[in-house]
Amino acid sequence: MNDLQERENWTSKLGFILAAAGSAVGLGNIWRFPYVVGTNGGAAFLLVYLVAIILIGYPVIIAEMSLGRNSQKNPVGAFKDLAPDTSWWLVGALGVFTGFVILSYYSVVAGWSMAYIVQAANGFTSDMEFANLFAGHITSVGEPLLWHAVFMGITVGIISAGVVKGIQKTVKILMPILFILLLVLVFRSVSLEGAEEGLAFYLAPDFGDLSWQSFNDAIAQAFFTLSLGMGAMITYGSYLSEDENISDSAGYVLGLDTLVAVLSGFAIFPAVFALGLSPDAGPGLTFITLPAVFAEMPLGTFFGFLFFLLLTIAAVTSAISLLEVVVAYIVDEHEWERKKAAQVVGIIIFLVGVPPLLGYSALSDFEFLGMDLLDTYDWFANTIFLPLGGLLTAVFAGHIWGARNTAEEANKAEGTLSVGNLFGILIKYVVPIAIGAIMIVGIWQTFAG
Ligand code: PFF
Repeated sequence: MNDLQERENWTSKLGFILAAAGSAVGLGNIWRFPYVVGTNGGAAFLLVYLVAIILIGYPVIIAEMSLGRNSQKNPVGAFKDLAPDTSWWLVGALGVFTGFVILSYYSVVAGWSMAYIVQAANGFTSDMEFANLFAGHITSVGEPLLWHAVFMGITVGIISAGVVKGIQKTVKILMPILFILLLVLVFRSVSLEGAEEGLAFYLAPDFGDLSWQSFNDAIAQAFFTLSLGMGAMITYGSYLSEDENISDSAGYVLGLDTLVAVLSGFAIFPAVFALGLSPDAGPGLTFITLPAVFAEMPLGTFFGFLFFLLLTIAAVTSAISLLEVVVAYIVDEHEWERKKAAQVVGIIIFLVGVPPLLGYSALSDFEFLGMDLLDTYDWFANTIFLPLGGLLTAVFAGHIWGARNTAEEANKAEGTLSVGNLFGILIKYVVPIAIGAIMIVGIWQTFAG
């Protein structure tokens, strides 16, 4: 079977939904979401985030899937197909480039998570200094490099196997496991003595906690977590048959992603509060605060092991979508064989990930606006590339290809949900204005402060 034939075939609706949900559910949900909620004061932020997911995330995910399914192409090919002889294909090219950049450092962080599976298996004990343990790991070179290579190797292996035998098969196995692990961890966390305080932090909103930055963080998080703004959902949509209703499928993906993020909060905050720790540790929440939690809790080593396994699985199912965007582009537009494309691109992405990895050791002198290299990659991706890609995709779907065409594509097959006028208003006006505003504020704040 060649790639062109494979393109049409997620073999089931469930396969597509799990693949897209697998892309969405990742480090963004389990590592990033809790610390962003933690640093933004908890429950009130959660509400703003949910509004962002519905008003901005939902229209954009529908637009991306519709562009992909209609054109049956990778992001560059999709824009070329729908707006021939224009420069819109550059939006697709930006997406391919963004996939490249995100995967390079995503794999480094996923590598830390793999290293922590081993660490957890060896036991987290209360006499350990967890901040030092984490700093010790990331400032070394050999081990992070090894795990970064292993993680990229796994990602390349899955993508080489193809859309159905690689991606779909993987997500069908891993997503249910992920869900079960998460439920086990939630149960453990909320049943700890003293969990109530964490639940209150997470569920009882105090709107005084919100700042302008909270709105900014909520929209940026919505984009990253739903894999939007770089053509991942265009690419996955391009493998979707005409018999599936996109508004429904997008709704499931959005629902699953939100469920996992919200459940991660239930797994983390009650435990953090039960042990008297602070929820606002930032990016170190997962790698420093949580191991301290596991060290104190009954059967903590076992649950710590499960947690980092969960985090790694979530990272794998997202990483494959990042690589698939780049590989689909090369396979379609340059007619490379899939396996060769996956391997060559995988090696290059691995190499591009080496500088951020060394940003804590050999390249620790590097500084951009006060950020280390990994944060710099992340800043460019999240503050510029993804919002810009999302903004241009919304303008394209709303005004160039047209909201009506987009909605028609989304509603092509029977479904319970159908998108109509409200969708048109959101994709044409609300989404571009909201994203434009957060981009300007995000860039301004970084430079101002
Ligand atoms: N959605 C992923 C996460 O939450 O970890 C990250 C991601 C994957 C972003 C794929 C963008 C993308 F295209």
